[in-house]
Amino acid sequence: MGSAEEPDNGDHFSRHIRIITYILMDAEKHDIHFGFHAYNMSLMVLPLVLLYQEHAAILRAEKPLHDLKRLQEEKRNSSMSTNSDSGYFLDAESAPEMARLIQQDMAMTRKMGGPLAEQADPSSFLEILDVGCGSGGWVLDVAFANPDAEVAGIDISKTLIEYANARARSQGLQNASFEVMDVTTPLSFSDHSFDLVNGRLLVGSLPRTVWPQLIQECFRITRSGGVLRMTELDMSGVTTSAAFNYLDSLLLKANWLVGHGFSPDGRTTCMTPMLPTLLRNAGYQHIQHRAHAIDVSSGTDTHMDFYRNYEIFFKQTLPFLASVGVATQEEVEQTYQQMLIDMFSDEFKGMWYLLTAWGTKPE
Ligand SMILES: C[S@@+](CC[C@H](N)C(=O)[O-])C[C@H]1O[C@@H](n2cnc3c(N)ncnc32)[C@H](O)[C@@H]1O
Repeated sequence: MGSAEEPDNGDHFSRHIRIITYILMDAEKHDIHFGFHAYNMSLMVLPLVLLYQEHAAILRAEKPLHDLKRLQEEKRNSSMSTNSDSGYFLDAESAPEMARLIQQDMAMTRKMGGPLAEQADPSSFLEILDVGCGSGGWVLDVAFANPDAEVAGIDISKTLIEYANARARSQGLQNASFEVMDVTTPLSFSDHSFDLVNGRLLVGSLPRTVWPQLIQECFRITRSGGVLRMTELDMSGVTTSAAFNYLDSLLLKANWLVGHGFSPDGRTTCMTPMLPTLLRNAGYQHIQHRAHAIDVSSGTDTHMDFYRNYEIFFKQTLPFLASVGVATQEEVEQTYQQMLIDMFSDEFKGMWYLLTAWGTKPE
């Protein structure tokens, strides 16, 4: 990721470009599901698109960080707390992590075919909750696609929740809302509140001991006939970069040592084999699953998303890896540098594998 230094605040040109980028990022996203609207929007902003393309590298790397960094500093200066006790080994309040979550959400939802691609009738879900919603992208996508639904997101990070609420307002989505909540404690929703409860990529956040109680809480707040839908991964990816694979093996081991995932040996998170059982044990029935394989090799449209994601992700994990003792600081730093070189190469090949499992609460 490029430098996160603040641009000149008096630079109107730069500010306008940032606003345009926000619009284009949304247009780009909506283009996936709502090509007609995005087409109209593109026509209106065509001259700006050309400008955007010229500055794309700088904007994509630095724009989210500038605004998010300011937001983060404002929060730190206020009386709000951070999520340091959440068990999430990354700091979700930090600007780079927020920017990473935003990009990761967009790329994953897109490559999974949309927010609810495998569900037979997404319009039948009228009350929906996303647990550990991050920057709110999934909630906003569902709320946009289904105006009759009320879609809520909860996350422990106050900064992320504030950001997600701001996105809902700026997109004019009255049916999307976000609230700070710790999913490791009883959820402040009544029994039978939701037709659909969703969760994605929570393995790094939740110790293995917490999973059964969270799924049980989800069961409590799901209506009879309603659905719980969870998406997880077993490793960061399978790639041709030895450095990437090694760094990921260190992370899997370190995470396992501090109590995350269900692996017997720390070689994977072992989340995807466990999801059906976790759902079944809580009382869900008719458990089904859908695997997702996302090609992130050089030359694919997801390559740079993957590169940026793990550039930020692993950078943040290096101190954690060293502190758990799975490798020295020097070793992880060197491996990280090699990983960046490998991932940027034209020869780089990789796949991102995820599994969505879902089950129905009996009538
Ligand atoms: C890897 S992110 C996934 C975000 C989102 N689900 C997605 O797929 O884009 C994990 C999220 O879980 C949140 N989180 C961590 N611990 C939590 C807790 N105890 N309660 C609620 N949210 C938590 C983090 O703040 C972060 O936003």
